Amino acid sequence: MKMIDIIGKKRAGMELTTEEISFFIQNYTDGSIPDYQVSALLMAICFQKMNMRETSDLTMAMVSSGDVLDLSNIEGIKVDKHSTGGVGDTTTLVLTPMVAALGIPVAKMSGRGLGHTGGTIDKLESFTGFSVEISEEQFINNVNNNKIAIMAQTADLAPADKKLYALRDVTATVENISLISSSIMSKKIAAGADAIVLDVKVGDGAFMKSFEDAKELAEAMVSIGKSVDRNTVAVISDMDQPLGFAVGNALEVKEAIDTLNGVGPKDLLELCLTLGSNMVVLARKAETVEEAREMLIKVIEDKSALKKLKEFIVSQGGNSNQVDNTELLPKAKYVVEVKSEIDGYVSKIDSQHIGLIAMELGAGRATKEDDIDLAVGIVLNKKRGEKVLKGDTLAFIHSNNENKIEKATKDIIDSYHITSENKEAVPLIYGVIR
Ligand code: URA
Ligand code: CA
Repeated sequence: MKMIDIIGKKRAGMELTTEEISFFIQNYTDGSIPDYQVSALLMAICFQKMNMRETSDLTMAMVSSGDVLDLSNIEGIKVDKHSTGGVGDTTTLVLTPMVAALGIPVAKMSGRGLGHTGGTIDKLESFTGFSVEISEEQFINNVNNNKIAIMAQTADLAPADKKLYALRDVTATVENISLISSSIMSKKIAAGADAIVLDVKVGDGAFMKSFEDAKELAEAMVSIGKSVDRNTVAVISDMDQPLGFAVGNALEVKEAIDTLNGVGPKDLLELCLTLGSNMVVLARKAETVEEAREMLIKVIEDKSALKKLKEFIVSQGGNSNQVDNTELLPKAKYVVEVKSEIDGYVSKIDSQHIGLIAMELGAGRATKEDDIDLAVGIVLNKKRGEKVLKGDTLAFIHSNNENKIEKATKDIIDSYHITSENKEAVPLIYGVIR
């Protein structure tokens, strides 16, 4: 088999066989096929597309390119959740204790933040002493004992995807449904998921800017899941403004704790209930999403999800007093109000922009090597659809550096789109693809 023939075949719009796809992934991973040939194939895929069969084969070839986590020692159906990337998205911290409180095993590998989006692993480090670097054995033991463990990715999961993604990034070949869907699904399958709930974000702050594109991606991922025997559900949710109010690590941890105490932002709670009820159904702990939703509301009301969060924090060496008293979480030296300069209605809050401002305050990384400041970030005070008057507080800046406040203030004002008419409301949940 020769790579040049595979490129030529795809360029001519023909379907690649399972063997051809596996050949190119294996030999690209081990370095025997060069970047320039793979670049040509990726471009051909972008123009000629892949069908569902090819996309599923590509996914499984990437899964086989590295380690596959063996979670067979954990009893029950392991349901993983994945978001395509949001701003201020604390759902994992709220959702995982809720689901674990119902006895569903949560064995989750998470990542760190990069660019305008945050990462669960960074947020968890807001708890003093909390360790994300636990052994695979402890990870599995914790799930068996407490139903929940979250660790930083250590195993070499889907190395083909890592190489391909870096290449796509510099060859203008990121935007192809088959390439994106196989990239995401390969990592979830390698991480040992039996079933997967996806949160596909749509809006200016997301990968997918339109509902049509988000729906196509969601359908592709659900279809891959089906063809490889991993039940998959995709929720399409809005990213035309950050989720909840808080954007920044410790600030989002506090917001997650507030939500588990029943006093969190409505949109965050609603998204957690929607994603969570689908997880509960996939784990076969409820027949219908309606029933699952009632179960999840109950674990918030009776505080068992909050108790589960505390058990989880302690099991990985963290201080659970910070859950009881969020004043003990890292706090910024300066908290400054950002005021509206005009009257009107908030029609949009540029999520990507808000994420970048939080990053510049120190909450995120511009490059993988950067250090972050867990305490800093932005807390929104007005959200879409709200009326504001000149002088009203739009948001609060939490900073440890006085010199960064002036620019952040100006940038936050620019991120708020304030119009004289109240625009038609955009839904939080656009749809659910099963
Ligand atoms: N996220 C991924 O993990 N892969 C893609 O290709 C796009 C977004
Ligand atoms: Ca938030």
